[in-house]
Amino acid sequence: MSLIVCPHCQNTLIKAHNKTYSCQQGHCFDVAKEGYLNLLPVNQKKSKAPGDNDMMIAARRHFLELGHYNPLISSVVELINETIPLDKPLTALDTGCGEGYYAQHVLYATAPNESQIIGADISKPAIKLASKKYKDSFFFVSSVYNLPVANQCIDLILSVFAPVHAPEFHRVLASNGYLIVVGPGENHHKELAQLIYNEFRPHQNKITSEMPANFKFIKTKLTTFDITIDDAEVLLMLLKMTPYYWNTSKEALAKLQACNHITIQCDFNISIFQKIDL
Ligand SMILES: C[S@@+](CC[C@H](N)C(=O)[O-])C[C@H]1O[C@@H](n2cnc3c(N)ncnc32)[C@H](O)[C@@H]1O
Ligand SMILES: [Zn+2]
Repeated sequence: MSLIVCPHCQNTLIKAHNKTYSCQQGHCFDVAKEGYLNLLPVNQKKSKAPGDNDMMIAARRHFLELGHYNPLISSVVELINETIPLDKPLTALDTGCGEGYYAQHVLYATAPNESQIIGADISKPAIKLASKKYKDSFFFVSSVYNLPVANQCIDLILSVFAPVHAPEFHRVLASNGYLIVVGPGENHHKELAQLIYNEFRPHQNKITSEMPANFKFIKTKLTTFDITIDDAEVLLMLLKMTPYYWNTSKEALAKLQACNHITIQCDFNISIFQKIDL
């Protein structure tokens, strides 16, 4: 796979044999038994185990597989179908891909046959789970701030609730390549926040004003729907997927664990941009 480069010297990584990739300077990377590569150099790690941990990833996998976010999937797929030419195979990258749900259900599901889908996340447990389940895509551990991806080889980047780093995205995108960023809309998870904090501060989505001029804004699609959760275990999974988990008091957690019926608004802001060469 020539689109992956060595994180140390940026030379192309070539599959040496089944179990190893290497570059011409002799840097070697073993393929994990699940099929992924760890391309995050130790000096780029800000902690021992960066990114989402096992507990958060497992909660995300369980929750997403219940299908609560299917309307989001449909909305992003619709946006791709109406905006991006799909007449030839694509190379698409999910950055901050977590356990691979959107790489599979958005990118793999919409891209024409023979497309290449790749996913990157700084969390090793996330990439492990993604790689174990979604065998048609290729996953690697890396940071969005330093993508081990060749220049101008990606047609579409998807970023769902993950860090956005415009300079790297611009470097790896092909001319006229697309970037889709999914983030919270104003009232995202309002009732969950009210349950925990007794108040809610609306989200501010600044993505359109924060993107640099070398990304042309095409449009924003708002997608809003309610989900009803009748199981405190599932509600806890949802909490573990959100940053609220780390700021939940014991009392609020007890309240949540006693909650067997709640309707929560899911409010997403889906913005699409196109790379322009200035
Ligand atoms: C809220 S989760 C979203 C995961 C996935 N996109 C989804 O929606 O299911 C954010 C993800 O970003 C990853 N992440 C955080 N910092 C990152 C970085 N610097 N580079 C790559 N991924 C990062 C986390 O490990 C986590 O999997
Ligand atoms: Zn190298």
